Amino acid sequence: MAIGFFKSKKDKGLEDVILPEHIGIIMDGNGRWAQKRGLPRKAGHRAGAKNFRTITKHCANIGIKYLTVYAFSTENWKRPKDEVNALMELFKSYLEEAIRDFKDEDIVVRFIGDKTAFSPELQALIKENEECSADRKGMVLNIAMNYGGRDEIVRAMRRIAERVENKEITAGDITENDISDNLYTAGQPDPDLIIRPSGEYRISNFLLWQSAYSEYVILDDVLWPDFSKDMLEQCILEYARRNRRFGSV
Ligand code: IPE
Ligand code: IPE
Ligand code: MG
Repeated sequence: MAIGFFKSKKDKGLEDVILPEHIGIIMDGNGRWAQKRGLPRKAGHRAGAKNFRTITKHCANIGIKYLTVYAFSTENWKRPKDEVNALMELFKSYLEEAIRDFKDEDIVVRFIGDKTAFSPELQALIKENEECSADRKGMVLNIAMNYGGRDEIVRAMRRIAERVENKEITAGDITENDISDNLYTAGQPDPDLIIRPSGEYRISNFLLWQSAYSEYVILDDVLWPDFSKDMLEQCILEYARRNRRFGSV
């Protein structure tokens, strides 16, 4: 949607509304942010990674329970080798710091997506981040890396098909819950609100199954590195104004 609501007077504050339990963010627009400044695209990714930290901590501080951020899709491997390499380097240096970084906010760090495509070094860092934050009690942060909604559903289907092959269940026994329980996000609530800066009106393979009833807020004139804490709060207030019917009246 257009960003007009940002210009309207704040009628309510976060303390007056029911917060979304789970927020998803498609962190888009890093490349354009850099291009606008005459910088290489990787400078945009660096700025985007920095903003990811700021916004993640703010989500935890205002009481969001689950945050899923889209960092790298199964389709992003199609980008020029240089850019993919720069992103992998950035993930590596970022994950080295992240181990300490989210400790004060008590954030549980999880990764969703196919990790096996990453270098052994990156996989070790992913594991270390997950293990050292697993006992924390705060917000659950899912970092979607080499994540694709279709790939996730195919994986779930394979696991369910194995149970059918082993005659543990019949095809007729398969329920929606079986599919949800075999996704990377098993056990977590579906996202209530999905935010996409940079003005693209599409889902780009993000949380396909889980977003069946998510509310979307698309920001036309904001690129991810410029997305601020105040904008996040405005998106939450916009979400709170929506009337979610889930097919009912
Ligand atoms: C999002 O920013 C980051 C990744 C997909 C890794 P983009 O790199 O897609 O930025 P734009 O859309 O080209 O501006
Ligand atoms: C979606 O952005 C993926 C991430 C933000 C990680 P893209 O920039 O890859 O999406 P498209 O290509 O515009 O659909
Ligand atoms: Mg993009």
